[in-house]
Amino acid sequence: MTTVFALLIQDPPGKINYVENPAPPAPNDFWGQLPVLASDFTHVDGLFYFTYAVCIFFFVLILGVLAFSCVKYRRKTWDQPAASNTTHNTPLEVTWTVIPLIIVMIMFAWGFAGSMDMMTPSHDATRNTYKATASQWNWKFTYPNHPAQSFGEVWLEHNKPVQFLLESTDVLHAFSLPSMRVKRDIIPGRFQSLWFTPTELGEYHLFCAEYCGQDHSRMYAKVHVVTSAEFNQAEKPWDKWDDSTPAAAAKSGESLYKQICASCHNTSGARGMTGPPWKGLFVKGPDGKVVGRQREVRENGENKTITVDDAYIVESIRTPEKKKVLEEPYFKNNMTAMPDLDERKIKGIIEFMKSLAEAP
Ligand code: CUA
Repeated sequence: MTTVFALLIQDPPGKINYVENPAPPAPNDFWGQLPVLASDFTHVDGLFYFTYAVCIFFFVLILGVLAFSCVKYRRKTWDQPAASNTTHNTPLEVTWTVIPLIIVMIMFAWGFAGSMDMMTPSHDATRNTYKATASQWNWKFTYPNHPAQSFGEVWLEHNKPVQFLLESTDVLHAFSLPSMRVKRDIIPGRFQSLWFTPTELGEYHLFCAEYCGQDHSRMYAKVHVVTSAEFNQAEKPWDKWDDSTPAAAAKSGESLYKQICASCHNTSGARGMTGPPWKGLFVKGPDGKVVGRQREVRENGENKTITVDDAYIVESIRTPEKKKVLEEPYFKNNMTAMPDLDERKIKGIIEFMKSLAEAP
């Protein structure tokens, strides 16, 4: 159980410079052990500090007695006889078995009640149900009463109880939102759920807390808690997508890239990530025009050379297994297909790829 809570209340990892992230929430608690509390699940902190205090107390007690005994009863000469031949002390042994047992049972009951709470949504929460879909290695969210989806970011309404249905498209993941004090494993083929009420406005980190493969550590998302007014405006925050000019589209594409693509593809051109770098997909011709580069792929078991163009990018996002890049290590890796990423957003991603073009 200690492990469960260690995961539940993990601190945000150090600096993540991979993706544009909000600054880690400022710890506001006793010795900075817990990230800021932003939900109504207040009982977790009490249990955490109780467990923490018990651990410190027994650590000091046991090591203290050990150190004292080592010094006081050490053998001072080679032939010194043992100070005592006692091997048992039944009352003492019963005491140090029963007391920890009681303490552990208290922790169990407390933790069990809390985890039942987390899994039993209020009526209001069931009417505000989001879906979080975990795939290697990103998060997709769908909204209640709204056809929209967002990737790598989700918006919640302040002070409104929310339920998350959790599903995985591939392997085990875990939905861990330390600031809200909730965490639950996501098991492929099953719906899990949890709920909470976000009580503080701000941006929070959602982590995947179950090792799920190479880029597990990059699988996180931003959770925005916004006012009802902001949440209910005509243009939903998650629908904002500026593609008024190619430059604006490239900018929108870049932010989407950071949310869902950057865990596998870089833009520096450095090799060795899960997927091929994006730099160099397009190059600038002598006249300054952006053109697609050639690339070796395997399609239907046949090796061929293709020229990168918009249609190829669209196909690679929706059905990545169709044309596989021959170059290793990329050939052996498989990309998560995103069949429902809409055309406009793919267009933005393509504009962003094109904006990386340089003269060869
Ligand atoms: Cu998904 Cu770790």
